[in-house]
Parts: sequence; C-alpha cells; structure tokens
Amino acid sequence: MDLNKNISQPSIKIVDLTKRYDNRISVDKLNIEIYPGEIYSLLGENGAGKTTTINMLTTLIKPSSGSFYLDNLDGLKHPEKIKGVFGVVSQDVSIYLELTAFENLYFMGQMYGIKKNELIDRIRKLLIDANLLDRANDLVGSYSGGMQRKLTIAMAMLNHPRILFMDEPTVGLDPKSRRQIWQTLKSLQEQGITILLTTHYLDEAQALSNRIGIIRLGKLVVEGSIDYLRDKIHAVTNVLIKFADKKNLVNFKDLFGKFKTIHDCEILHDDLQDHIMLKLPRNTKLKDFFNSIYLFLNENNIEYTHFSSIEPNLEDVFIAITSMDEI
Ligand SMILES: Nc1ncnc2c1ncn2[C@@H]1O[C@H](COP(=O)(O)OP(=O)(O)OP(=O)(O)O)[C@@H](O)[C@H]1O
Ligand SMILES: [Mg+2]
Repeated sequence: MDLNKNISQPSIKIVDLTKRYDNRISVDKLNIEIYPGEIYSLLGENGAGKTTTINMLTTLIKPSSGSFYLDNLDGLKHPEKIKGVFGVVSQDVSIYLELTAFENLYFMGQMYGIKKNELIDRIRKLLIDANLLDRANDLVGSYSGGMQRKLTIAMAMLNHPRILFMDEPTVGLDPKSRRQIWQTLKSLQEQGITILLTTHYLDEAQALSNRIGIIRLGKLVVEGSIDYLRDKIHAVTNVLIKFADKKNLVNFKDLFGKFKTIHDCEILHDDLQDHIMLKLPRNTKLKDFFNSIYLFLNENNIEYTHFSSIEPNLEDVFIAITSMDEI
C-alpha cells in the first residue's frame, strides 16, 4: 500500500473514466485520486491515453462513461462552473503569436471577466514570476520556445486556479529552460496548487512528482511514489567499481567470485571494460555491504579509481513496468 497520501479530500477525483472512439478504447475505467498540493505525473507510451484523459478533465471532450470531480465539483454536471477551478497547459502551445504577452494575458483575463485594475495587477505579477516583464510588449512570435511555454503557464494561472493540468509542459525545451519551469511548478506547489502533469521526460517526473501513475492502453497499471514503484519491480541497487589496473581484471573476477559467495551478490561485468558491477540482493544494508567491500578490496590489494552505488531510476522502473505482461 502506498502511504504517500494525506487524509484530506482529493482535489482531483477520477472515477471509472472511459473514452471510446468507435470500437477503440482510449481510456479504460481510469481511477485516480490526487490530493491538494500534490504533483502527480501521468506516464505512458505514445497513445497510452494521457492527452485524452486531460482533455476529458478539462471538458474539451466528453467521456463515454465514468465521472470526475475537481475540488469536489462534479465535472459532468457542472461543465461550465468547473472551468473556473482549473488552468491548463496543453500539449501544443496555445497562445496568439501575433499578439504581445501583455495582450495575450489581457484578452484572456477579459474572457474570464476579471476587472481591469485587478487584471493589470495580476498580469504584472505573473509576468514577473515568468521572468517576462521586460518582454511584455514584444510580439510572442518573437519569443523563444521556453519563453512561450512560460507565458502559457502564466496564462493558465491567470484565473487563480487551484488545479493545474499540464500536458508535456517542457517538451522541446533546453535543459536550463526545463529547470526554470520545474522551479515554477515547485513554487506553484508551495502555494498549494495541485498539479497533474504528463511527461515523457522521466527525470522530470522523478524530480517533481509526489506520485506517479503509469498508464498503458488507457488503463492505470501502477501508481505510487518512486520508492514504491522501485519496490514494485523489485529494483535493486548496483555497485560499480572501476579498477586502476585493467590487465588484472580476470584475476579480480576470480577473487570477486569468492566475495560473491560470501555476500550473495550477483556479478554483472563486461570483459572489455575496466570495471565490475555488483548487483546487490534486495534489502541489503548498504553500509554493511560497503564496509565489507572496502575491507575486501584492501585485503586483496585491489586498487580502484572509482566506487559508487547506482540506484535504479524511474527509467528502469518505467521500462520494467511497461514491459511486464501483468503487474
Ligand atoms: N479524436 C480521436 N479519434 C480517434 N482516436 C483518437 C482520438 N484522439 C485520440 N485517439 C486515440 O486514443 C489513443 C490515446 O491517445 P492520446 O492522445 O490520449 O495518447 P497520449 O498518451 O497522449 O500519447 P502521446 O504520448 O503520444 O501524447 C490513441 O490510440 C489515439 O489514436
Ligand atoms: Mg499526448
């Protein structure tokens, strides 16, 4: 069981949500609850049903069956009212390139019916947060991809939403711009905003999410914190040791054979390389293991240039889970 939930009411509650196109099912009885202030990443291969899910939650398309609630408001019964609860950053950048950033925000604010003085105040704050104040009167078509993306997030925040949906918010951005957007998301989270995001960048999901859900063929196959997912695939830690003297690797392997029988670890190695990789049994106490391996290296006069442990990352988890027949 995943304990990474708090006891409050979910901000986003998805119940048996389903979307069928003709005979093909795109989202299949999806059930997810996301709690206030959580960042939840929905992962899945191309065509898994992520955008279709977000499109249903943002009332762009009608579910075939099931229901959803945003801040306890029934999305099917109140499709208009619910629009005031969330902001959305869609997969394609949806801003007017032939307008300035200020104009984009201003027209959107007018659509929301925000009063002029209040609107100008909000726009100013959002442009400061997005680091775009000095470019506010430039045409958005002259912005870089990262700047356009930041403006899209500012647009999504204009109506003070409690919930933010973001479909691949950092696609195509350089590493620095991606990290700036991560920073923005974290500060929104600190303000208590709940974020449902999809991404193909697993480092992004790992850096940002409280919980992760993986969908395949429209079905949620697993969800939980990264630690929980690692556990789910029986992920183990590997230890990498690089040797100073490559020529002696064959001897080292014999020696490590003995070590292996004592410590019950598996040896993964490549004869052409200058290293040895040990796969630790699950639940190994790393500190004890490191002590005994240091002792072993010293006792056998094995000189090494590098020693590190490698924890499985989300990519290992994702590949394992999307390749499994049954979870
Ligand atoms: N308007 C539509 N008509 C028919 N099928 C559709 C429609 N929209 C989506 N689908 C199908 O629904 C499935 C899920 O698509 P969706 O866009 O939700 O995937 P995704 O997980 O967002 O993928 P990606 O990572 O490529 O963005 C796909 O098989 C897609 O072909
Ligand atoms: Mg998509």
